[in-house]
Amino acid sequence: MNALKVSGILLFAATAGFIFTTTQRMLKVHFLISRLSKPSMVNKRAEEILKHGNGVIFLETTDRMEPSSLVLCSIESAARVYPDRPVVYFMKGLQDINSEDDEKRAKGKFPSLSPFNNVHILPLRLDELFNNTPLLPWYIKANPKNERFWIHNLSDGCRMTMIWKYGGLYFDTDVISMRPITEKNFLTAEHTHTSGSSVFGLTPHHSFAWKSLNDFVQNYNGGLWGNQGPSLFTRVLSKLCVLSDFKTLDHIVCGNITFMHPQRIYPIPYEQWKKYFEVWDNMPSFNNSYALHLWNYMNSNEKKTVVIGSNTLVENLYKYYCPLVYDFLLNNKSTVI
Ligand SMILES: *[C@@H]1O[C@H](CO)[C@@H](O)[C@H](O)[C@H]1NC(C)=O
Ligand SMILES: *[C@@H]1O[C@H](CO)[C@@H](O)[C@H](O)[C@H]1NC(C)=O
Ligand SMILES: *[C@@H]1O[C@H](CO)[C@@H](O)[C@H](O)[C@H]1NC(C)=O
Ligand SMILES: *[C@@H]1O[C@H](CO)[C@@H](O)[C@H](O)[C@H]1NC(C)=O
Repeated sequence: MNALKVSGILLFAATAGFIFTTTQRMLKVHFLISRLSKPSMVNKRAEEILKHGNGVIFLETTDRMEPSSLVLCSIESAARVYPDRPVVYFMKGLQDINSEDDEKRAKGKFPSLSPFNNVHILPLRLDELFNNTPLLPWYIKANPKNERFWIHNLSDGCRMTMIWKYGGLYFDTDVISMRPITEKNFLTAEHTHTSGSSVFGLTPHHSFAWKSLNDFVQNYNGGLWGNQGPSLFTRVLSKLCVLSDFKTLDHIVCGNITFMHPQRIYPIPYEQWKKYFEVWDNMPSFNNSYALHLWNYMNSNEKKTVVIGSNTLVENLYKYYCPLVYDFLLNNKSTVI
């Protein structure tokens, strides 16, 4: 009798739980559909700013609203290297923007960026971004709480969707730009046969981006790829051609994609990331590189930072490539209002 009661209660609880989660999901879908039927101001602004397909795109996919000095340095260096291109920082935690005043206010929060006319700060609205791409159903179904790599995977999906929609250049926020990349359709090699995803560029609606978005969703469901699995970029690229070895500093052509030599962005490989925080006898010229990836994720435990007066490589890079952020640090001025 008791066993019957207990199983009755369990069944009831399970049913209630099922109804609850199903209802929640339906509400989420309903909410998304009603939002997506009337595109917001944000989307229109992004389309306007990025309409020439020559933008430089940075993303913050968490709700964090206090970018580190490295993030600000990364954006400032791009604003200087690409004065004729819009540089857009999309932040998930930013409030909606409905007017020019809202836009000015958003930019005013970051005084080391506000003097740059080509810098724009816009909210990142994932549902609108993923609309009309294979990632929308994936996004609706996904449950961030159950996914260890949610932010990591989300950010891979976001960057490729951005470049699919708008074209241009994508940079991680731990990349310091030194000279302009003029190539339009390219990926950057980290190692001989491995593509990094920290820096890449494509023209709008490029077939590589579309293939990547589909591959992302397919392999996501399969859960085939473990930690050691090749990155999305390497996977899709290796379907276009057989990647040969780099014999010189020159790039490799794969289909209609240029695969750049590791020296272009990763002259210091990730195993040596600490070198950025060391004092060098001579400042290297990095004259075979367009930009430097500082491997911030390798630094997540040690949290090494720029120390003013330390004469480390990173301090010298700040001085040359983001002098305004450097000046803020030097004078102990706040970089976020
Ligand atoms: C999600 O991220 C993890 C960790 O980097 C990775 O191993 C996995 O392949 C990713 N999943 C997809 C579908 O990209
Ligand atoms: C790139 O090559 C693919 C075929 O691999 C083709 O479908 C696509 O149109 C090409 N894109 C551009 C921008 O040339
Ligand atoms: C690169 O830098 C090295 C060392 O500073 C210098 O000797 C060399 O001439 C430079 N090469 C170019 C192409 O600027
Ligand atoms: C920088 O400013 C903070 C707060 O205004 C203060 O606590 C700190 O001592 C200052 N540091 C220097 C080196 O001036």
